[in-house]
Amino acid sequence: MPRPPYGPGRDERATGPGGAPAAGAPEPGLGTVPHRVVPHRPGGGDAPSDCRQRRSDGGKTLIRMATTIPSHTRIEPGILYFGTPVVLISTLNEDGSANLAPMSSAFWLGWRAVLGLGARSKTAQNLLRTREGVLNLPSDSLAAAVDRLALTTGSDPVPPSKVKRGYRFVADKFARAGLTPVASDTVGPPRVAECPVSMEVVVEGVHDVAHDDEAQRGGIVAIEVRVQRVYVHDEIRMASTADRIDPDAWRPLIMSFQKLYGLGPQVHPSTLARIPEHLYRGPDIERARETPAMTG
Ligand SMILES: Cc1cc2nc3c(=O)[nH]c(=O)nc-3n(C[C@H](O)[C@H](O)[C@H](O)COP(=O)(O)O)c2cc1C
Repeated sequence: MPRPPYGPGRDERATGPGGAPAAGAPEPGLGTVPHRVVPHRPGGGDAPSDCRQRRSDGGKTLIRMATTIPSHTRIEPGILYFGTPVVLISTLNEDGSANLAPMSSAFWLGWRAVLGLGARSKTAQNLLRTREGVLNLPSDSLAAAVDRLALTTGSDPVPPSKVKRGYRFVADKFARAGLTPVASDTVGPPRVAECPVSMEVVVEGVHDVAHDDEAQRGGIVAIEVRVQRVYVHDEIRMASTADRIDPDAWRPLIMSFQKLYGLGPQVHPSTLARIPEHLYRGPDIERARETPAMTG
């Protein structure tokens, strides 16, 4: 019998060792195996399992049968940067010139973003002083430009902690990156012409991260910003729609453990994606539309 693309099939049913039906496993397999808590094995060693993984490959469904689940080992990594898109934040310096800095500790909620920034970075200081900025999202093809901004700061003098890590002051970071500033619509800092996405933002809230710890207090801020304009290159727009990004066309630049990556193709159909995007539209969009463009 032909198997539906992602529906359960005979070879996906829960099986015990040797492929025999697992005790108590109901007929439709994946996701229906009773959950078992496997005791932790301090010395390592893999836990027996009938786990299997599926992946979509050009329309075909591949099923990889695994007989073990790898065990966990407790570690203490210096950083927990598991992979997030890079954002180039443009802000205005005290003298009206533009600063541009890469960051990636950002997450998105509606038309808001929360930006995790070193409090002594020029970007954080500019954002908190002027209350505005532009979040430019580079595609993976802009990795070299982003990398030219690594280990640079718009702070002069360079803070001692950054001197130790090899940072140096760069006054014109657009020139350093080889990127083009273009005038924004509602805020002073310029957009980056080459970035497929640019979002003009205003600061709405500030949270002092690790405030509970005297040693870290004042070092990192989480800045909540509200988006006032979204500008995108046409090449990443979804055909026949007015307001949608095509995730198959949008190729973000990802920073993972300080290294730069692209994004692979979709790995699995998304159940969440059954929710129509318009159901997410919130009041910030209407509010943004009412924000007039700056003149002159
Ligand atoms: C790919 C990449 C991602 C980064 N992510 C962050 C980040 O999320 N938060 C942060 O504070 N600094 C981050 N940095 C370091 C900043 O770019 C660095 O602090 C820089 O000096 C800021 O520039 P500014 O002082 O001119 O604002 C990142 C750097 C690179 C190259």
